[in-house]
Amino acid sequence: MRLDSFAAYEAAYAESVNNPEKFWGDIAKTFHWKQPFTKVCEWDFTTPDVKWFSDGVLNITENILDRHLAENGNRTAILWEPNDPADERQSFTYRELHGEVCRVANGLKAQGIGKGDRVVLYMPMVPELLFAVLACARIGAIHSVVFAGFSAQALADRIQDAGAVAVLTADEVRRGAKRIPLKSVVDDALHQCDSVRTVWMFPSTGASVDWTAGRDVRWADAIKGMATHCPAEAMAAEDPLFILYTSGSTGKPKGVVHSHGGYMVYTTYSFVNVFQYDANAGDVFWCTADIGWITGHSYLSYGPLLAGATQVMFEGVPTYPDVDRFWAACAHHGVTHFYTAPTAIRALMAHGDEPVQRHDLSRLKVLGTVGEPINDEAWHWYHRVVGREQCPVVDTFWQTETGGIMLSGLGGLSPMKPGHAGLPLPGIQPVLLTADGEEITETGVEGHLCFKHPWPSIIRTTYGDHERCRQTYFAAHPGHYFTGDGAKRDADGMIRVIGRVDDVINVSGHRFGTAEIEEAINQANNVVESAVVGFPHEIKGQGICAFVVGTDAIDAAVAEEASESVVSAIGRVARPDRILVVPGLPKTRSGKIMRRILRKIAEGRSSELGDVSTLLNPEVVPQLVAAFEG
Ligand code: PRX
Repeated sequence: MRLDSFAAYEAAYAESVNNPEKFWGDIAKTFHWKQPFTKVCEWDFTTPDVKWFSDGVLNITENILDRHLAENGNRTAILWEPNDPADERQSFTYRELHGEVCRVANGLKAQGIGKGDRVVLYMPMVPELLFAVLACARIGAIHSVVFAGFSAQALADRIQDAGAVAVLTADEVRRGAKRIPLKSVVDDALHQCDSVRTVWMFPSTGASVDWTAGRDVRWADAIKGMATHCPAEAMAAEDPLFILYTSGSTGKPKGVVHSHGGYMVYTTYSFVNVFQYDANAGDVFWCTADIGWITGHSYLSYGPLLAGATQVMFEGVPTYPDVDRFWAACAHHGVTHFYTAPTAIRALMAHGDEPVQRHDLSRLKVLGTVGEPINDEAWHWYHRVVGREQCPVVDTFWQTETGGIMLSGLGGLSPMKPGHAGLPLPGIQPVLLTADGEEITETGVEGHLCFKHPWPSIIRTTYGDHERCRQTYFAAHPGHYFTGDGAKRDADGMIRVIGRVDDVINVSGHRFGTAEIEEAINQANNVVESAVVGFPHEIKGQGICAFVVGTDAIDAAVAEEASESVVSAIGRVARPDRILVVPGLPKTRSGKIMRRILRKIAEGRSSELGDVSTLLNPEVVPQLVAAFEG
């Protein structure tokens, strides 16, 4: 499965395009199927309806746990690094992981949870979160992990949309020196959620919590006496594996659905090839993402474990207790493959080279980045200082909806170019289209990044609303999956992803829709209306700037209420960086907000506004500029 030269990549790519059925069929056959598949891919991008290996039956956890037991049961699967380095580290072999997952699986079953039920996980990055993810998959329950930084309202929205029967949580989450409550947030959320019968509570910090008898269960009680064996539920390849909510340009976040078979095949294949991970060479992989995001699903919970990897799972943050934490942990665990986000690289780069050089990073072989465009300076620092100019950098472009990496170099095999994700993985067929759907063949011209053939881990649907899936990804360019990103291709075919062309903002690699933030702000007392735009931010990539029209309350009060309203509707992660209270928003004569003007102002480019005289209210423009320059 692992390609070992650029020529092998080129041959695999050609085969994957010329004969995708054979290409993916051969790869999929290397997994354990309870019942083999005879069909490889059936697809129609109009409805859309995509199926992979549809008559195959499997359980993804058999391919993670049982398959590795026979030969590699004693290999370390997880090296858990706690938030506080003085706390005890934990590690789990594949055999131990199997036992832990089965105990949780049996505990869930004992409470009547089974195939097709939705289970929400709202937890810190403790091993129990990973056990719970895999336990759900083991019994065929559909997990929906909600990042433990979302608010009660955001959690309630996700629980309701999924109709979840259980929520697994902890008392609190540690994030550096902070302790943030989780159980009380769940309690708040559940006032609005009738579907939830059970809440499991893991004592992460030992904080005292409120208790609802009959509903709440202590983690230890839930798994007490449970067997360390649990038969893996037989799942059709297309049965849903998980739902993960993500933001788009309109409405509330939508539940992206991935299925068992295709997701298993693609996360494994992309993992071993992009990172050139070799389990037999004693490689140690570390993906720093939280399981609350797709990266922590595909390249922590699934891909590496499917490949039998040894990996680090980190509870904390890069700057606690000091700015050398990543490098200290890399040295301690002998990390060979390190995968993080540009925002973390930029934040750590600001502290200079010395914190990196304090540690022996000589085992590092491949460095990866994900989640947002990486600027040249950060790329070079990562390559030069962290990688000692010895490690290829793989800039991996992908999305919650793609399930796995789409564009990237294969560590050490492919050419690299700073700021360019590069070439497509085998099986991935990118095209750049104009807004009118014409294919762009010239180099250096920006177009809409689309894919014209399905790959095994493509989004199957948006939970409970298939039409929304069609509208969002398959309608703009019929016959194609549209990413929502703009990109350019150079003369060597290397692709540079520039950023979103829709109303999605990418803050520190986290996606937010401008509409959802505006909706949150508009709920605040003393707010009449608002418009939100992104602006370039030195560390976060993009920051959130909100233009808010208040009632006649004092400006500072309006700004404070608007900010708190976002925190309460979405969570701290979406708190705007700047809130400008303004007398009005620039509008066309038909009443449409001119976001182009707001974007330019927020970017500090108000000298480039051009002619604004055709606006309904051109007089507000200088007032907006004044508010920005404040
Ligand atoms: O805009 C692209 C950006 O992140 C978006 C996907 O966000 P999300 O679904 O949260 O998944 C992030 C982790 C896979 C994309 O539409 N993005 C992701 N990776 C890159 C990127 N932009 C540029 N370069 C990348 N390597």
